[in-house]
Amino acid sequence: MNTHKTLIVGNWKMHFTIGESSMFIRKLEEQLKIPSSVEVVVAPTTLALQSVSLQLKHHRKFKLAAQNCFWRDFGAYTGEVSAHMLRGLTQYVIIGHSERRHAFGEIDKDIRLKVQAVVRNQMQPILCVGETAQERADGDTGFTLHDQVTAGLANITSEEMHRIVIAYEPVWAIGTGENAKTTDVAAAMKLIRKQVKDLFGKQASLDLRLLYGGSVDGANATQYLALPDVDGLLVGGASLKPEVFGDIIASAKS
Ligand code: 13P
Repeated sequence: MNTHKTLIVGNWKMHFTIGESSMFIRKLEEQLKIPSSVEVVVAPTTLALQSVSLQLKHHRKFKLAAQNCFWRDFGAYTGEVSAHMLRGLTQYVIIGHSERRHAFGEIDKDIRLKVQAVVRNQMQPILCVGETAQERADGDTGFTLHDQVTAGLANITSEEMHRIVIAYEPVWAIGTGENAKTTDVAAAMKLIRKQVKDLFGKQASLDLRLLYGGSVDGANATQYLALPDVDGLLVGGASLKPEVFGDIIASAKS
């Protein structure tokens, strides 16, 4: 759909200590062959971002993402890490992941402010959207995606849209082994791109990078990447296995 490289993001979630993250990065650097047409991003624990960033300085083989951030730049917010603090350390920040929405009670307002904070701090948000099993069963997938995209991008201008990545991750497909059908993914992606076109214009919809996530593995990656509206993948469990992650990256080449 656009001229960007295929974007493959590995979300490590709450796995690996600082030391393990460093060892895992070394393993990836040794094992992974990254084609020039593919951009690879890994999202370690926030704690490891500094050390991994220094480790990668020499090679720049991968880019980094944070898994979350807070929207205020600084202040009395115990336990939070701001987008402002991540600036210069990561290129991307995952925002509104379904685990944040459902396990930590993040609502659209938080997500909208976080997306804005990431853009304000010169990074790129990966805005996650997706329907629950119940919403799917009720035939409400389209409404859910529409609401989440509208709310998530409400503070963003057309000029800022080139920074935005949206990941469609059906909640029921995350970590379940039950990956979505390509026909359903194609329909969801089309809907999201059309909505961005309606909200921000044609150029924004062409520039937008759309990722699929939810039980992606080495065997099913190719079918999603072959869809015209899919520009990459957001990978959870399979990104913790260097060989499988390598297979996914290899399938992105073709
Ligand atoms: P799995 O690939 O483990 O299903 O996780 C997907 C995900 O949540 C990536 O952010």
